[in-house]
Amino acid sequence: MSTNNSQGTIDNLLHENRVFQPPKHGPGPWHLASMDEYRRLHRRSVENPEAFWAEEAERLAWFRRWDRVLEWNAPDAKWFGGGTLNACYNCVDRHVQAGHGEQTALVWEGEPVGPATSHEVSSSAYSREPQIRRLTYRALQQEVSRFANVLKGLGVGRGDVVTIYMPMVPELAVAMLACARIGAAHSVIFGGFAATAISERAIDAKSRVVVTSDGGNRRGEVLKLSRTVEEAVSLAASHGHSIADVVVLRHTAHEKPSERFRTGEVRHGARMHWWHDLAAGVSDACPCEAMDSEAMLFLLYTSGSTGKPKGIVHTTAGYLAFVQMTARLTFNLIPDCGQLFWCTADIGWITGHSYVLYGLLMNRVTTLMYEGAPNYPAQDRFWDIIERHRVTQFYTAPTAIRTFMKWGDELPAKHDLSSLRILGTVGEPINPEAWMWYHRHIGRDACPIVDTYWQTETGGHVCTPLPGAVPTKPGSCTVPMLGIDAVVVNEKGEVLPPDKGGLLAIRRPWPGMLRGVFGNRERFVSNYFGRLKDPATGTPYYFSADGARRDGDGYFWVMGRVDDVIKVSGHLLGTMEVESALVSHPAVAEAAVVGVPHEIKGNAIHAFVSLKPQWLKANARHADDSLKAELVGHVSKEVGALAKPDVIRFAEGLPKTRSGKIMRRLLRDVASGVEKITQDTTTLEDFSVVAKLREDDE
Ligand code: WT7
Repeated sequence: MSTNNSQGTIDNLLHENRVFQPPKHGPGPWHLASMDEYRRLHRRSVENPEAFWAEEAERLAWFRRWDRVLEWNAPDAKWFGGGTLNACYNCVDRHVQAGHGEQTALVWEGEPVGPATSHEVSSSAYSREPQIRRLTYRALQQEVSRFANVLKGLGVGRGDVVTIYMPMVPELAVAMLACARIGAAHSVIFGGFAATAISERAIDAKSRVVVTSDGGNRRGEVLKLSRTVEEAVSLAASHGHSIADVVVLRHTAHEKPSERFRTGEVRHGARMHWWHDLAAGVSDACPCEAMDSEAMLFLLYTSGSTGKPKGIVHTTAGYLAFVQMTARLTFNLIPDCGQLFWCTADIGWITGHSYVLYGLLMNRVTTLMYEGAPNYPAQDRFWDIIERHRVTQFYTAPTAIRTFMKWGDELPAKHDLSSLRILGTVGEPINPEAWMWYHRHIGRDACPIVDTYWQTETGGHVCTPLPGAVPTKPGSCTVPMLGIDAVVVNEKGEVLPPDKGGLLAIRRPWPGMLRGVFGNRERFVSNYFGRLKDPATGTPYYFSADGARRDGDGYFWVMGRVDDVIKVSGHLLGTMEVESALVSHPAVAEAAVVGVPHEIKGNAIHAFVSLKPQWLKANARHADDSLKAELVGHVSKEVGALAKPDVIRFAEGLPKTRSGKIMRRLLRDVASGVEKITQDTTTLEDFSVVAKLREDDE
């Protein structure tokens, strides 16, 4: 990744030696206030993990206490065996029971468009202002219980998977918690994905109920989500999977309900329902199911290096114990302390699951949810929201920060950002320039920056500064979270000395780790536990697929993925996913996709495509810009707008090894315009292909 500054990031990372001490005051007293305290607690947590995690589990509300902290038969971990609990109870009910029902759980702000209040469901539960809604813990309990009863009415119960495809509205949180309440697992799909992606995931998860909304608001436009779901339902049906029910929230209200469908009407074999019709007159009391510690809480699909997304399985007790702890420590959450936390991630990603929803509500801190774009109606939208709501902790992505830098210093300068106490980043390595800009222009040099390294699979933060204790260095995610035994090793599993680049591994299990890849045991074992092991005992280590080094202070510097997965604007995409979409177009014979450093997005997608001459001839088409545009549109339709290639290059052939593997690293060089190919090409099948690609460039 490079920045608009002339120095390259890798160079900066190697020479970065600025250190920033934690400020004296945070949003309330610091949970951990010195590096010594961190070191002492971390040592204890990895030397005696069971005692450590037992203490964290004590912070949850249990219906039945656990008997055993951990059973570890690598790679299978069972945490808090014998216990029963409920995730929704831990997020909502217990706070109401403890007398905090009137506290605001969630503040929602939408785009300033359309009718002030388009929402018509049980409005009495909300105190409303135009495009701002607040839900107390009590209101949340009622809404969740009502929707839980709606789901039950559709026959949803323990162990079922409910697919959720919604914009960032409170009902998204309500739907997720309603699933948890009745023991169903949710599978949330980001609203930017296309119909194919939805049907693929619903089929894989064997999910028969989809919850969606008529639309979502984005820059004054309406994204017609339920139409996409209908398309997905019909696609699934054509693959032999029937979706039984689709529940549609009326949110954007861009069409009259009666003009769309009537509740109960059948489309492509699925019964369509308006949320408000089903919820009308339904009781707002519903008990929380007692779930086993290891019951699946949710599935979340993430990209892998093969074409098919992986359904990452998270279970109840371990995920909750880990996320309440990491949220509390990383963001110094304290209830009744005037904190308002804003994570800008969509709930459709793990960041939203853990740090918009579960981690915040478990800690009884108010979470802010925003539906809309950072530049609508103006480019200072985020700073405007922070100022008006008095946000205390703000969590966003490096790609967004780089965009804000480009938009200019004067935008945040127009706003009073003095409420901010902690800033966070997540999603990809942050370049020091962006870190410094964030620190100065958003944090006014007064807020610690927590650069949180983690993954969909880890459930929560595994390396991050703890804001009151750990001095920060721009570009480093600093030190392991308490209880996390993170190391940098070589292929043999040997820990590397300082400043040696290697593979980031975690040696011992932790409660928030994935428990599987849904329906694919082999992929779970081989992707995560098949590559690295303890050189002495042979016990598998968790392998992150990230390259990293540790400096002399033990600080981690993550260098990025070592597999065929690229990060585009902080979102993972498998190169194979995009390639599969490309080759599904009739004009395409072969495709190879690589990531190329990009100033704002971290990586841009470059696709090398070889075409079928017969097809071109038969259809009187040419390898031209109109075909490129068509292919870009095709990928967007198949996978989603986030997978659109930035550059498409037509090639007569793709460079391959003698065994037929496409040589991506060569293509990467070609795509990023490296002057001279110095890489080893001894196994290249046909070097003239590369020469040809480079000529085309001139
Ligand atoms: C990959 C995981 C986990 C939340 C969002 C992404 C990269 C994430 C950082 C960071 C350097 C980071 C890694 C990781 N990554 N955070 N602070 N510094 N790299 O979840 O989509 O599962 O992606 O994101 O490469 O493996 P995800």
